[in-house]
Amino acid sequence: MSEEKRRIIEEARAARIAALGEWLNARLAPPAAPFRVLEIGCGHGHFLSAYAAAHPEHFCLGVDLLSKRIRRAIRKRDNAHLANLEFLKADAGELLEAWTPAFPLSAIFILHPDPWPKTRHHKNRLIQPAFLDILAGLSTTGATRLHFRTDHDAYFDWAREHVAAHPAWEILDGAPWPFEQETVFSQRLPHHQDLIAVRH
Ligand SMILES: C[S@@+](CC[C@H](N)C(=O)[O-])C[C@H]1O[C@@H](n2cnc3c(N)ncnc32)[C@H](O)[C@@H]1O
Repeated sequence: MSEEKRRIIEEARAARIAALGEWLNARLAPPAAPFRVLEIGCGHGHFLSAYAAAHPEHFCLGVDLLSKRIRRAIRKRDNAHLANLEFLKADAGELLEAWTPAFPLSAIFILHPDPWPKTRHHKNRLIQPAFLDILAGLSTTGATRLHFRTDHDAYFDWAREHVAAHPAWEILDGAPWPFEQETVFSQRLPHHQDLIAVRH
């Protein structure tokens, strides 16, 4: 890739992150609730719409890369008149880079993330040491919970291994899944395993 092309891509990324930062600082400030729930890869928004309706005292944000899914999620939010719920089309990495620790996360949900089954694609999995570092930096010690659910056994083992090895997160074996709601992928893939961890 030429230097010029690389510069254009980096500038566009920096501009997206700056815009996300402005949006987050405005939307997360009071009167938004201080219990902040983030769903990464929210798809069509089934889980978070139901969660936000059941928890009007929480502020909920769902993020997904795909515009069409986010448009459908926003329709669900609007039809249900949920003032405590937002959906954003963004890359989770860019969103987290824009997020300030002044507004720490209370709960993080990752439901049926893309499993990237081929070994050469494992680097694309969301759960990586660097990603766990970033989430830890936006979390509250002893409080923030990370909830991970997958239908893919090998990805579950991978996630468990990486979270267990990470110094900022402690796996809570046997902790109950806090809220159940079918999603597009949970309907298709009813078998799943769950992992819940708390910020040390
Ligand atoms: C397999 S789908 C699961 C969707 C939903 N959680 C469900 O259970 O139906 C994974 C979703 O993660 C989204 N995704 C993947 N990588 C992402 C990223 N870096 N940032 C935001 N969303 C991402 C995809 O666009 C897709 O909608």
